[in-house]
Amino acid sequence: MDSKEFDLSSSLSSHRWWSKNTVAIVTGANKGIGFALVRKLAQSELTVVLTARDEVRGLKAVETLRNEGLGHVLFRRLDVSDPDSIVAFAAWFASNFQALDILVNNAAVSFNDIYENSVENAETVMKTNFYGPKLLIEALFPYFRSSSSKTRILNITSRLGTVDKVRNIKVKEILESEDVSEEDIEGVVNAFLEDVKTGTWKKAGWPALWTEYAVSKLALNTYTRVLAKRYGAYGSVSVNSFCPGFTQTSMTGGKGTHTADAAALVGCRLALLPSHRLPTGQFFFWGPNYTIPRKSKL
Ligand SMILES: NC(=O)c1ccc[n+]([C@@H]2O[C@H](COP(=O)([O-])OP(=O)(O)OC[C@H]3O[C@@H](n4cnc5c(N)ncnc54)[C@H](OP(=O)(O)O)[C@@H]3O)[C@@H](O)[C@H]2O)c1
Repeated sequence: MDSKEFDLSSSLSSHRWWSKNTVAIVTGANKGIGFALVRKLAQSELTVVLTARDEVRGLKAVETLRNEGLGHVLFRRLDVSDPDSIVAFAAWFASNFQALDILVNNAAVSFNDIYENSVENAETVMKTNFYGPKLLIEALFPYFRSSSSKTRILNITSRLGTVDKVRNIKVKEILESEDVSEEDIEGVVNAFLEDVKTGTWKKAGWPALWTEYAVSKLALNTYTRVLAKRYGAYGSVSVNSFCPGFTQTSMTGGKGTHTADAAALVGCRLALLPSHRLPTGQFFFWGPNYTIPRKSKL
Protein backbone atom coordinates (compact mmCIF):
# COMPACT_ATOMS: atom_id res chain seq x y z
CA MET A 1 0.00 0.00 0.00
CA ASP A 2 1.51 3.35 -1.03
CA SER A 3 1.18 5.81 1.81
CA LYS A 4 2.66 9.01 3.18
CA GLU A 5 2.57 10.92 6.42
CA PHE A 6 -0.28 13.38 6.84
CA ASP A 7 0.71 16.23 9.12
CA LEU A 8 -2.08 17.27 11.48
CA SER A 9 -0.01 19.47 13.77
CA SER A 10 -1.41 22.84 12.76
CA SER A 11 -5.01 21.89 12.14
CA LEU A 12 -6.52 22.35 15.60
CA SER A 13 -4.92 25.61 16.64
CA SER A 14 -5.29 27.53 13.39
CA HIS A 15 -8.27 27.58 11.03
CA ARG A 16 -10.86 26.98 13.71
CA TRP A 17 -14.05 26.67 11.64
CA TRP A 18 -16.35 25.21 14.30
CA SER A 19 -18.30 26.59 17.26
CA LYS A 20 -20.54 25.16 19.98
CA ASN A 21 -23.30 25.06 17.35
CA THR A 22 -21.27 22.55 15.35
CA VAL A 23 -22.81 19.12 15.92
CA ALA A 24 -21.00 15.79 16.01
CA ILE A 25 -22.38 12.29 16.52
CA VAL A 26 -20.19 9.41 17.70
CA THR A 27 -21.55 5.86 17.72
CA GLY A 28 -20.58 3.19 20.26
CA ALA A 29 -19.22 5.89 22.54
CA ASN A 30 -19.79 4.57 26.05
CA LYS A 31 -16.20 3.29 26.21
CA GLY A 32 -12.97 2.81 24.29
CA ILE A 33 -11.99 4.96 21.33
CA GLY A 34 -15.56 6.27 20.86
CA PHE A 35 -15.72 7.62 24.42
CA ALA A 36 -12.27 9.18 24.09
CA LEU A 37 -13.32 10.79 20.80
CA VAL A 38 -16.41 12.36 22.37
CA ARG A 39 -14.21 13.76 25.12
CA LYS A 40 -11.73 15.27 22.62
CA LEU A 41 -14.50 16.76 20.46
CA ALA A 42 -16.26 18.17 23.53
CA GLN A 43 -12.97 19.62 24.81
CA SER A 44 -12.75 21.38 21.44
CA GLU A 45 -16.12 22.97 22.35
CA LEU A 46 -18.44 21.35 19.84
CA THR A 47 -21.85 19.92 20.71
CA VAL A 48 -21.48 16.14 20.77
CA VAL A 49 -24.15 13.45 20.75
CA LEU A 50 -22.73 10.44 22.58
CA THR A 51 -24.61 7.34 21.49
CA ALA A 52 -24.54 3.84 22.92
CA ARG A 53 -26.68 0.74 22.57
CA ASP A 54 -27.14 0.47 26.32
CA GLU A 55 -28.87 3.39 28.02
CA VAL A 56 -27.29 2.85 31.46
CA ARG A 57 -23.74 2.64 30.08
CA GLY A 58 -24.35 5.64 27.80
CA LEU A 59 -25.77 7.85 30.54
CA LYS A 60 -22.91 6.93 32.86
CA ALA A 61 -20.40 7.94 30.17
CA VAL A 62 -22.12 11.31 29.71
CA GLU A 63 -22.14 11.86 33.46
CA THR A 64 -18.38 11.25 33.60
CA LEU A 65 -17.81 13.88 30.91
CA ARG A 66 -20.21 16.39 32.50
CA ASN A 67 -18.29 15.96 35.78
CA GLU A 68 -15.19 16.99 33.84
CA GLY A 69 -16.97 20.23 32.94
CA LEU A 70 -17.91 19.18 29.40
CA GLY A 71 -21.44 20.56 29.25
CA HIS A 72 -22.20 20.18 25.54
CA VAL A 73 -22.50 16.39 25.54
CA LEU A 74 -25.91 14.79 25.07
CA PHE A 75 -26.88 11.14 25.20
CA ARG A 76 -29.18 9.23 22.86
CA ARG A 77 -29.57 5.48 22.66
CA LEU A 78 -28.57 3.96 19.32
CA ASP A 79 -28.06 0.29 18.49
CA VAL A 80 -26.47 0.39 15.05
CA SER A 81 -27.28 -3.27 14.39
CA ASP A 82 -31.01 -2.51 14.67
CA PRO A 83 -32.56 -0.64 11.70
CA ASP A 84 -35.53 0.49 13.85
CA SER A 85 -33.14 2.03 16.36
CA ILE A 86 -31.43 3.91 13.52
CA VAL A 87 -34.76 5.27 12.21
CA ALA A 88 -35.80 6.35 15.72
CA PHE A 89 -32.43 8.02 16.28
CA ALA A 90 -32.60 9.96 12.99
CA ALA A 91 -36.13 11.17 13.87
CA TRP A 92 -34.92 12.32 17.29
CA PHE A 93 -31.94 14.06 15.67
CA ALA A 94 -34.21 15.87 13.20
CA SER A 95 -36.46 17.16 15.95
CA ASN A 96 -33.54 18.44 18.05
CA PHE A 97 -31.00 19.78 15.55
CA GLN A 98 -31.06 21.65 12.28
CA ALA A 99 -28.04 20.04 10.72
CA LEU A 100 -25.23 17.55 11.23
CA ASP A 101 -21.57 18.46 10.80
CA ILE A 102 -19.63 15.35 11.85
CA LEU A 103 -20.58 11.68 11.96
CA VAL A 104 -18.07 9.23 13.44
CA ASN A 105 -19.07 5.64 12.72
CA ASN A 106 -17.10 4.06 15.54
CA ALA A 107 -19.37 1.30 16.97
CA ALA A 108 -18.20 -2.19 16.13
CA VAL A 109 -17.92 -5.70 17.46
CA SER A 110 -15.31 -8.40 17.23
CA PHE A 111 -15.66 -11.84 18.74
CA ASN A 112 -12.04 -12.92 18.27
CA ASP A 113 -9.35 -13.15 20.88
CA ILE A 114 -6.12 -11.67 19.57
CA TYR A 115 -4.63 -14.87 18.15
CA GLU A 116 -7.90 -16.61 17.33
CA ASN A 117 -10.01 -16.69 14.24
CA SER A 118 -13.70 -17.53 14.27
CA VAL A 119 -16.59 -16.84 11.92
CA GLU A 120 -19.39 -17.98 14.22
CA ASN A 121 -20.80 -14.48 14.56
CA ALA A 122 -20.37 -13.42 10.95
CA GLU A 123 -23.95 -12.15 10.52
CA THR A 124 -23.88 -10.02 13.67
CA VAL A 125 -20.48 -8.63 12.73
CA MET A 126 -21.70 -7.62 9.22
CA LYS A 127 -24.90 -6.12 10.63
CA THR A 128 -23.03 -4.05 13.20
CA ASN A 129 -19.78 -3.11 11.47
CA PHE A 130 -20.95 -2.62 7.87
CA TYR A 131 -24.74 -2.32 7.59
CA GLY A 132 -24.92 -0.22 10.79
CA PRO A 133 -22.78 2.66 9.47
CA LYS A 134 -24.35 2.35 6.00
CA LEU A 135 -27.96 2.60 7.25
CA LEU A 136 -27.05 5.40 9.64
CA ILE A 137 -25.42 7.47 6.89
CA GLU A 138 -28.51 6.97 4.71
CA ALA A 139 -30.86 7.93 7.56
CA LEU A 140 -28.90 11.07 8.46
CA PHE A 141 -28.06 12.20 4.93
CA PRO A 142 -31.03 14.65 4.74
CA TYR A 143 -29.59 16.52 7.74
CA PHE A 144 -26.05 16.93 6.46
CA ARG A 145 -25.13 20.60 6.59
CA SER A 146 -24.51 21.87 3.11
CA SER A 147 -22.00 24.61 3.72
CA SER A 148 -18.41 25.45 3.00
CA SER A 149 -17.30 23.70 6.21
CA LYS A 150 -18.47 20.33 4.77
CA THR A 151 -20.19 17.50 6.57
CA ARG A 152 -17.58 15.00 7.61
CA ILE A 153 -18.06 11.24 7.85
CA LEU A 154 -15.23 9.40 9.56
CA ASN A 155 -15.59 5.64 9.37
CA ILE A 156 -13.43 3.93 11.98
CA THR A 157 -12.12 0.88 10.14
CA SER A 158 -9.04 -1.31 10.26
CA ARG A 159 -5.97 -2.23 8.28
CA LEU A 160 -7.15 -5.81 8.68
CA GLY A 161 -9.83 -4.86 6.15
CA THR A 162 -7.79 -3.54 3.24
CA VAL A 163 -7.94 -5.17 -0.19
CA ASP A 164 -4.34 -6.43 -0.02
CA LYS A 165 -5.52 -8.91 2.67
CA VAL A 166 -7.86 -10.61 0.17
CA ARG A 167 -6.43 -13.63 -1.65
CA ASN A 168 -9.54 -14.38 -3.73
CA ILE A 169 -8.77 -12.89 -7.15
CA LYS A 170 -12.41 -12.41 -8.16
CA VAL A 171 -13.33 -10.61 -4.93
CA LYS A 172 -10.20 -8.49 -5.17
CA GLU A 173 -11.08 -7.48 -8.74
CA ILE A 174 -14.62 -6.48 -7.75
CA LEU A 175 -13.47 -4.39 -4.79
CA GLU A 176 -10.61 -2.73 -6.66
CA SER A 177 -12.75 -1.72 -9.62
CA GLU A 178 -13.12 2.05 -10.14
CA ASP A 179 -16.84 1.44 -10.67
CA VAL A 180 -17.48 -0.68 -7.58
CA SER A 181 -21.05 -0.12 -6.34
CA GLU A 182 -23.01 -0.62 -3.13
CA GLU A 183 -24.59 -3.70 -4.74
CA ASP A 184 -21.11 -5.12 -5.49
CA ILE A 185 -20.07 -4.67 -1.84
CA GLU A 186 -23.25 -6.33 -0.59
CA GLY A 187 -22.64 -9.13 -3.10
CA VAL A 188 -19.17 -9.69 -1.60
CA VAL A 189 -20.57 -9.69 1.95
CA ASN A 190 -23.27 -12.19 0.92
CA ALA A 191 -20.70 -14.41 -0.80
CA PHE A 192 -18.67 -14.45 2.42
CA LEU A 193 -21.73 -15.29 4.54
CA GLU A 194 -22.57 -18.09 2.10
CA ASP A 195 -19.01 -19.48 2.37
CA VAL A 196 -19.39 -19.41 6.15
CA LYS A 197 -22.69 -21.30 5.92
CA THR A 198 -21.28 -23.96 3.61
CA GLY A 199 -18.05 -24.25 5.62
CA THR A 200 -15.87 -23.30 2.62
CA TRP A 201 -14.64 -19.93 3.92
CA LYS A 202 -11.15 -21.15 4.89
CA LYS A 203 -10.12 -22.03 1.36
CA ALA A 204 -12.04 -19.23 -0.37
CA GLY A 205 -9.27 -16.62 -0.02
CA TRP A 206 -10.87 -14.27 2.54
CA PRO A 207 -8.54 -12.27 4.86
CA ALA A 208 -6.72 -14.73 7.10
CA LEU A 209 -6.74 -12.73 10.36
CA TRP A 210 -9.94 -12.01 12.32
CA THR A 211 -11.74 -13.06 9.12
CA GLU A 212 -15.35 -12.02 9.84
CA TYR A 213 -14.24 -8.69 11.33
CA ALA A 214 -11.80 -8.09 8.45
CA VAL A 215 -14.52 -8.70 5.83
CA SER A 216 -16.85 -6.24 7.61
CA LYS A 217 -14.13 -3.55 7.60
CA LEU A 218 -13.23 -4.38 4.00
CA ALA A 219 -16.87 -3.69 3.12
CA LEU A 220 -16.87 -0.43 5.10
CA ASN A 221 -13.58 0.74 3.56
CA THR A 222 -14.93 0.09 0.07
CA TYR A 223 -18.20 1.83 0.97
CA THR A 224 -16.14 4.88 2.03
CA ARG A 225 -14.74 4.94 -1.51
CA VAL A 226 -18.18 4.59 -3.11
CA LEU A 227 -19.58 7.44 -1.02
CA ALA A 228 -16.59 9.69 -1.60
CA LYS A 229 -17.06 9.29 -5.33
CA ARG A 230 -20.81 9.88 -5.10
CA TYR A 231 -20.71 12.87 -2.74
CA GLY A 232 -17.57 14.29 -4.32
CA ALA A 233 -19.90 15.82 -6.86
CA TYR A 234 -21.64 17.85 -4.12
CA GLY A 235 -18.34 19.08 -2.70
CA SER A 236 -19.94 19.62 0.70
CA VAL A 237 -19.42 16.11 2.10
CA SER A 238 -16.15 14.40 2.94
CA VAL A 239 -15.97 10.66 3.70
CA ASN A 240 -12.79 9.02 4.99
CA SER A 241 -11.73 5.86 6.82
CA PHE A 242 -9.42 5.83 9.81
CA CYS A 243 -7.69 2.82 11.36
CA PRO A 244 -6.67 3.77 14.92
CA GLY A 245 -4.02 1.05 15.07
CA PHE A 246 -3.56 -1.58 17.78
CA THR A 247 -5.24 0.28 20.65
CA GLN A 248 -5.66 -0.71 24.31
CA THR A 249 -9.43 -1.21 24.58
CA SER A 250 -11.78 -4.02 25.50
CA MET A 251 -11.80 -5.13 21.84
CA THR A 252 -8.14 -6.15 22.20
CA GLY A 253 -8.44 -7.33 25.81
CA GLY A 254 -6.50 -4.23 26.89
CA LYS A 255 -3.51 -5.01 24.67
CA GLY A 256 -2.13 -2.51 22.17
CA THR A 257 0.67 -0.11 21.36
CA HIS A 258 -1.15 3.02 22.55
CA THR A 259 -4.17 4.25 24.51
CA ALA A 260 -7.67 5.08 23.30
CA ASP A 261 -6.91 8.74 24.14
CA ALA A 262 -3.93 8.78 21.78
CA ALA A 263 -5.98 7.20 18.97
CA ALA A 264 -8.85 9.62 19.63
CA LEU A 265 -6.57 12.65 19.45
CA VAL A 266 -5.68 11.74 15.87
CA GLY A 267 -9.31 10.88 15.03
CA CYS A 268 -10.48 14.22 16.44
CA ARG A 269 -7.89 16.15 14.45
CA LEU A 270 -8.94 14.37 11.27
CA ALA A 271 -12.60 15.18 11.93
CA LEU A 272 -11.77 18.84 12.55
CA LEU A 273 -9.48 19.46 9.58
CA PRO A 274 -10.17 22.80 7.94
CA SER A 275 -12.13 22.22 4.75
CA HIS A 276 -9.28 23.35 2.47
CA ARG A 277 -7.12 20.54 3.92
CA LEU A 278 -9.85 17.94 4.20
CA PRO A 279 -9.55 15.17 1.63
CA THR A 280 -12.23 12.64 0.76
CA GLY A 281 -12.07 8.92 -0.05
CA GLN A 282 -8.82 8.47 1.89
CA PHE A 283 -7.62 5.82 4.28
CA PHE A 284 -5.80 7.18 7.32
CA PHE A 285 -4.01 4.79 9.61
CA TRP A 286 -1.86 4.85 12.67
CA GLY A 287 1.76 5.54 11.76
CA PRO A 288 5.00 4.94 13.66
CA ASN A 289 5.00 8.62 14.60
CA TYR A 290 2.71 9.04 17.61
CA THR A 291 0.46 11.86 16.42
CA ILE A 292 0.95 11.80 12.67
CA PRO A 293 -1.20 9.28 10.80
CA ARG A 294 -0.34 7.89 7.39
CA LYS A 295 -2.65 8.39 4.46
CA SER A 296 -3.26 6.29 1.37
CA LYS A 297 -5.87 5.93 -1.35
CA LEU A 298 -8.51 3.32 -0.58
N1 LIG B 1 -8.81 -1.39 19.51
C1 LIG B 1 -8.15 -1.59 18.38
O1 LIG B 1 -6.99 -2.06 18.36
C2 LIG B 1 -8.78 -1.24 17.06
C3 LIG B 1 -7.99 -1.36 15.90
C4 LIG B 1 -8.55 -1.01 14.67
C5 LIG B 1 -9.86 -0.56 14.63
N2 LIG B 1 -10.59 -0.45 15.77
C6 LIG B 1 -11.96 0.07 15.65
O2 LIG B 1 -12.13 1.14 16.57
C7 LIG B 1 -13.53 1.27 16.89
C8 LIG B 1 -13.70 1.35 18.40
O3 LIG B 1 -13.29 0.11 18.97
P1 LIG B 1 -12.67 -0.01 20.43
O4 LIG B 1 -11.33 -0.58 20.27
O5 LIG B 1 -12.87 1.27 21.16
O6 LIG B 1 -13.60 -1.16 21.00
P2 LIG B 1 -14.54 -1.26 22.28
O7 LIG B 1 -13.87 -0.67 23.47
O8 LIG B 1 -14.97 -2.68 22.31
O9 LIG B 1 -15.76 -0.32 21.92
C9 LIG B 1 -16.73 -0.69 20.96
C10 LIG B 1 -17.92 0.18 21.17
O10 LIG B 1 -18.91 -0.18 20.20
C11 LIG B 1 -20.13 -0.40 20.89
N3 LIG B 1 -21.04 -1.26 20.15
C12 LIG B 1 -20.91 -2.56 19.84
N4 LIG B 1 -22.02 -2.99 19.18
C13 LIG B 1 -22.84 -1.92 19.07
C14 LIG B 1 -24.12 -1.73 18.51
N5 LIG B 1 -24.80 -2.73 17.92
N6 LIG B 1 -24.66 -0.50 18.56
C15 LIG B 1 -24.01 0.53 19.15
N7 LIG B 1 -22.83 0.40 19.73
C16 LIG B 1 -22.24 -0.82 19.69
C17 LIG B 1 -19.73 -0.99 22.23
O11 LIG B 1 -20.82 -0.91 23.15
P3 LIG B 1 -20.98 -1.95 24.39
O12 LIG B 1 -20.14 -1.40 25.51
O13 LIG B 1 -22.44 -1.90 24.63
O14 LIG B 1 -20.49 -3.28 23.90
C18 LIG B 1 -18.58 -0.04 22.56
O15 LIG B 1 -19.06 1.17 23.04
C19 LIG B 1 -14.20 0.06 16.25
O16 LIG B 1 -14.76 0.43 15.03
C20 LIG B 1 -13.05 -0.91 16.03
O17 LIG B 1 -13.34 -1.82 15.00
C21 LIG B 1 -10.09 -0.78 16.99
